[in-house]
Amino acid sequence: MEDVIAHYYFRPDTRTTPQEAAQAIAEEETTGTWTAITTRQEYVRRLDGIVESVEESGRGYLTAIRYPAEIFEPGNVPQYLSVVAGNLFGLGRLEAVRLTDIEFPESLVQFHGPKFGIEGVRHLLGTRNRPHVGTIIKPKVGLTPPADTALVAYEAASGGGVDFIKDDETLTNQAFCPMTERVEAVMARLDEAKDETGRQVLYAVNISDRADRIVERAEEALERGGANTLMVDVITCGYAALEVLAEEPGISVPIHVHRTMHAAMTRNPEHGIAMRPIARLVRMMGGDQLHTGTVSGKMGHNAEELVLDNRVLTDPWFGFRPVFPVASGGLHPGKVHAELETLGTEIVLQAGGGIHGHPDGTAAGARAMRQAVDAFLEGVSATEYATDHVELERALKLWAHRNPFFIFFDRWEFYPPR
Ligand code: 3PG
Ligand code: 3PG
Ligand code: MG
Repeated sequence: MEDVIAHYYFRPDTRTTPQEAAQAIAEEETTGTWTAITTRQEYVRRLDGIVESVEESGRGYLTAIRYPAEIFEPGNVPQYLSVVAGNLFGLGRLEAVRLTDIEFPESLVQFHGPKFGIEGVRHLLGTRNRPHVGTIIKPKVGLTPPADTALVAYEAASGGGVDFIKDDETLTNQAFCPMTERVEAVMARLDEAKDETGRQVLYAVNISDRADRIVERAEEALERGGANTLMVDVITCGYAALEVLAEEPGISVPIHVHRTMHAAMTRNPEHGIAMRPIARLVRMMGGDQLHTGTVSGKMGHNAEELVLDNRVLTDPWFGFRPVFPVASGGLHPGKVHAELETLGTEIVLQAGGGIHGHPDGTAAGARAMRQAVDAFLEGVSATEYATDHVELERALKLWAHRNPFFIFFDRWEFYPPR
């Protein structure tokens, strides 16, 4: 295939036929506009978008649109997006339109992809086949280093339960928790934990920042702080931020990719941008781990889409290394079984509240998460495994009858006002 094929779901307005609506997308994003124009030379026609198919689907239609490769500037992803995901979302003749997937030709995916990917991250941690357990330092903002932030990280690691620790998406370099001090403090305590447990844990420090500062921030985290993983909020920073980090020869640690704000685009099943094209872009631009959602967590989810999104990260694709899918948001040990059953074991399962909310604290919470994973791998239910694993037993009991009405009460219990 030489060209780009983009797939959309759409619903035309009442005055427009499905064919006209699809044609409106193809024209707007290539050589046309709302009316015929006198400047459209004959030779421009080779760049016309072509509607390949239109078929009914639910309340609307699916269409595949072919965009000639020549329209795209190789390597310029912002420009790719302005074509396949540009003005079309605002066209008045469409009541709704959602970009569901993009097929790229080889000529437009000349990126290096992940430096580590699943195998590389597993190699750093010495694991094989089993899911990784991760945690997010909570509360997401407010803790002050080194005393509190690093202590939470140390406890999660010393419990032997987690492989991976990360900052939350809203923590960057605020005055109450400067990045360099934080990463230094956390890494020092992770070294202590390693002396005790013999196990290396990765800590992803959030370096999200404006484009011209992000590489500097990454270097600072690596050189001064000794960071062993970097984290970037890809939607708020932009794909280019990920690309510069991944392409920078001096950056030789995995990049953990968070997707905060994605749901503004991905959540509506009729309008916006599905996770699949985002997953493809992150893979080609060098993310090593990417949040794609959960089947049982706190965020809205669509298990069918999620399974296919994760396959886009892991199936063979232009020789790029597979990206580790990350399931995060509202998980706890009682949900591990459902996640692994649907998503498989090539996954990072992360829990923030589901670890730091454990009645016996973070270390016990981390162990409980890991015990739930071990139970699944041994083919027994978490409840059965809990009969001789007290941390798991306590976690299951706490969250067994979780009722949304008690959320406020739980917060009160665990974060009492000072
Ligand atoms: C979080 O930050 O709580 C989650 O990772 C967000 O979940 P999502 O990736 O499903 O949006
Ligand atoms: C994330 O960034 O993935 C999260 O903040 C998840 O937090 P939670 O496990 O407390 O929902
Ligand atoms: Mg978060």
